[in-house]
Amino acid sequence: MNILIVGGAGYIGSHAARLLAELGHKPVIFDNLSTGHKETVREFQFIKGDLRKPADIKKALKSCSIDAVMHFSALALVGESMEKPALYYENNITGGLNLLNAMIEAGVKKIIFSSSAAVYGIPKKVPVEENHPLNPINPYGNTKLGFERILEDYRNAYGIGFTALRYFNAAGASLDAGIGENHPVETHLIPRAILSAMGKLKDFCIFGTDYPTKDGTCVRDYVHVLDLAQAHILALEKLKLGRGAVYNLGSEKGFSVKEVVDLTQEVTGRKIKARYGRRRPGDPPVLVASSKKIKKELGWNPAYSDLKTIITTAYNWHMSDDYRLED
Ligand code: UFG
Repeated sequence: MNILIVGGAGYIGSHAARLLAELGHKPVIFDNLSTGHKETVREFQFIKGDLRKPADIKKALKSCSIDAVMHFSALALVGESMEKPALYYENNITGGLNLLNAMIEAGVKKIIFSSSAAVYGIPKKVPVEENHPLNPINPYGNTKLGFERILEDYRNAYGIGFTALRYFNAAGASLDAGIGENHPVETHLIPRAILSAMGKLKDFCIFGTDYPTKDGTCVRDYVHVLDLAQAHILALEKLKLGRGAVYNLGSEKGFSVKEVVDLTQEVTGRKIKARYGRRRPGDPPVLVASSKKIKKELGWNPAYSDLKTIITTAYNWHMSDDYRLED
């Protein structure tokens, strides 16, 4: 199949592109390169474009014979979304609508959407199942839930089939260390802990030590980016056959910030100098997925999502020439 990967030069999209190509599909990358890196998808057809410009995405969909879309493109910094909600609604909602409208015009009827655990807000019950109440606590989460709702309406009215994958904490890198996480502003725990271990991050802070958790720090569910990519393939195959669905993607195991920092020290063999600070606004104390639904319905079987493999692959990527070249 010819798959348009919107946001395909980004962290998760570039891993999905690789896997699609390995399986004999043709990925076509659409990206505005605001946070993505063209070098990570150099072997694939690349279209530079911006979802906020309807003409860009219309042209892309018309220029290739696309069978389905994977939509990874979004602004995804929770803190930034609280300061600049207009920017988030414009990118994540208006941009998404432009994509859907262009799909209707081009007759493309299938889309896999990257949603987020942020749609749940502060969970009332963990592990979180898909039928947990949806109550985002920041504009970023609102845009993800809002676009899920738009997808439902577009499916009902225009027959666009969709699957929404709600990622928990995406982490890790490709096994050959050729591609990995490389955000212009890195806010995520695992890369920040690694950068701190490597002496490349001066001020590494653990945000909050008074949460009602085993050691007082926040608990998260880390899922390997290769397992996320695999889930996209399974979702696509299922969507080809019929109706899509909404699925959580997590390892179903929770690790505290301190546990992540300790294991990062062990994997890297280097000391991390962490400072203890105040809670980061908007952080839920505990987020752990139930991924039973996708395991049962699609046979998803995460192979790399144990924390040691996640940190090891991420560290190898941070130590690689490809990462250093992009410094
Ligand atoms: N943390 C630190 N120090 C850091 C960075 C993070 O202590 O330097 C802590 C955070 O406070 C949090 C945990 O590490 O408790 C994980 O933080 P991340 O920023 O790595 O990830 P989040 O859980 O905040 O974010 C994830 C996804 C978002 C999504 C959000 C939903 O990356 O896209 O979950 O809550 F919106």
